Amino acid sequence: PVTVKKICCIGAGYVGGPTCAVIALRCPHIQVTIVDLNQARIDAWNSADFAIPIYEPGLVDVVKQARGHNLFFSTDVDRAIQEADLIFVSVNTPTKKSGVGAGFAADLNYVESATRRIAAVATSSKIVVEKSTVPCRTAESMRTILEANSKAGCRFDILSNPEFLAEGTAIQDLFSPDRVLIGSLQTEEGKSACQSLAAVYANWVPKERILTVGLWSSELSKLAANAMLAQRISSINALSAICEATGANIDEVAHAVGRDSRVGPKFLRASVGFGGSCFQKDILNLVYLSESLHLPEVAAYWRQVVTMNEYQKRRFSKTVVDTLFNTITGKNIAVLGFAFKADTGDTRESPAITLVRDFLQERARVTIYDPQVEAAQIWLDLSEAMPNVPLEQIQKQVTLAPTALEASKNSEAVVIATEWNEFREIDWTAIYNTMEKPAFVFDGRMILNADELRKIGFKVTTIGRGERL
Ligand code: NAI
Repeated sequence: PVTVKKICCIGAGYVGGPTCAVIALRCPHIQVTIVDLNQARIDAWNSADFAIPIYEPGLVDVVKQARGHNLFFSTDVDRAIQEADLIFVSVNTPTKKSGVGAGFAADLNYVESATRRIAAVATSSKIVVEKSTVPCRTAESMRTILEANSKAGCRFDILSNPEFLAEGTAIQDLFSPDRVLIGSLQTEEGKSACQSLAAVYANWVPKERILTVGLWSSELSKLAANAMLAQRISSINALSAICEATGANIDEVAHAVGRDSRVGPKFLRASVGFGGSCFQKDILNLVYLSESLHLPEVAAYWRQVVTMNEYQKRRFSKTVVDTLFNTITGKNIAVLGFAFKADTGDTRESPAITLVRDFLQERARVTIYDPQVEAAQIWLDLSEAMPNVPLEQIQKQVTLAPTALEASKNSEAVVIATEWNEFREIDWTAIYNTMEKPAFVFDGRMILNADELRKIGFKVTTIGRGERL
C-alpha cells in the first residue's frame, strides 16, 4: 500500500473543514490542504483572528494548533490535487431542485465537477475518496469519469469513506469515532488503497473501530444510518401525538421503551422535529433509490419518516395558534433559537424556519434570537422559505434581537425552537416581567422545567404531555 504523505480535501465546509483539520492534528507527518472554490470561505479559514466560517465547539483550537504547520487552506484546487497522494471529495450533495428526481435525488453536479477536475489536472496516481454522502454506486460513475480522462501512467483507486460526525459534537466525534467505515472494490488494488487510508486513521483510531467493507455497502451504510436515526425521531414524535391525545407522558414512555437494551435510551427525545442538511436529504435519496430499483413499498416506508417530520412541525405551529385563542394576527411571538440544533450555527432545514414561516402566514409579528446564527443567514433562509414574499415585507414582520430577554419584550408567547443550553439558564422571571399577560411558553425542545415556569406564572405547553398550560 502507498504511504500517504499529502492529502487534499476538496470542499471546505462542515465536513471537509473539521475532518481534515483533525486528520492534520493527529497526523503531523501528513501535509493536509483543504481547498474550495469559495474565496470568502477560504479567507475566513485563513483569517488572522481565526474567525473561521463554521461554529463548532473545539474546532478553533484544532485549527490554531495545525494551521500553517501541516494544515493549509487554499483556492488553488489544481495544485493541491497534483501534489496529493490521497484526495477527499467533501463537496455538497443537495437534493435536486429540478429535472429527473427533483425533490428526491441527490444533485451530483458538484461531485462530478470535482471528479472531472481531478482527472484533468492529476499527473500521478491518486487514491480518490468519496467523503460526501452519495447514492449507492456513485463510485462507479466517478471511476468511469476518471478512467476516461486520465493521463497515461495515472491510476485512480476509489474508496468510499462516509462521514458520521454530528454537527455540534463534530470534534469529539472525530477524535473518538464509534467507527470509521472504508469501502473499496475487493480487488488487490482496491484492498491496498483501503489499507493506505486505514493507516491514516490508525494514527488515532483503535484498529477494531476501522471497518472495511465493499464499496456499495459503504455507500449504502451512510444512507441507512441517517435513515434509521431519523426514523427513531419520527417514531417518538408519532408517539408524542398519541400522548397528547391520551394523557400519557412521552418522557415516561421514552424512558420505559429505551430501557430495553435492544432499543437503547439515546435519540428518543420528542421535539418539534428534526432538521439539518442531512436527514431529510439522505432519506429522500434512499426513497429515490428504492423507487429506481422498483421497490415501491420500501420507498413508501422511508418516505413516511419525512412525512411524519413535516406533520410534527405543522402540528406544533397549529398548537401555538390554537393555544393563543385561535389567532396570532398582530401578536408578538418570540422565537428563541434558529439553528437546526444546539452548538451549531447551521440553519439548513431548521424547524425554526418552518415555524417562523407559519407564524408570518398567520400575520403574527416575530422576534428571533439565536446565539450563533448571523442576521444575513436568517434573512436568506426566510426569503427562500417564502419565495413569493419580498424581503422588505418579511422585514416588516420580523425583528432580530441581540438577547433572549430583548426578544421576549412585549411578546405574548415565547417559542423554544433550538435546545441551546443558555435557554435553560436564563432568568425566566425577568422574561415573564417583560411579557404581555397571560404569558405563554411553547417548549419545542423539551428543555425547560414546566413546573418551575408555571410557578412564575407562565402558561406552558410542551410536546407529548396530556396536560396543557
Ligand atoms: P458544505 O456545503 O458545507 O461544503 C461543501 C463545500 O464544497 C462548499 O464550501 C463548496 O463551495 C465546495 N465545493 C463544491 N464544489 C466544489 C468544487 N468542484 N471544487 C471545490 N470546492 C467545491 O457541505 P457539508 O455540510 O460539508 O457536506 C458535504 C458532504 O458531506 C455532503 O455530501 C453531506 O451530505 C455530507 N455530510 C454532511 C454532514 C454534516 O453534518 N453537514 C455529516 C456527514 C456527511
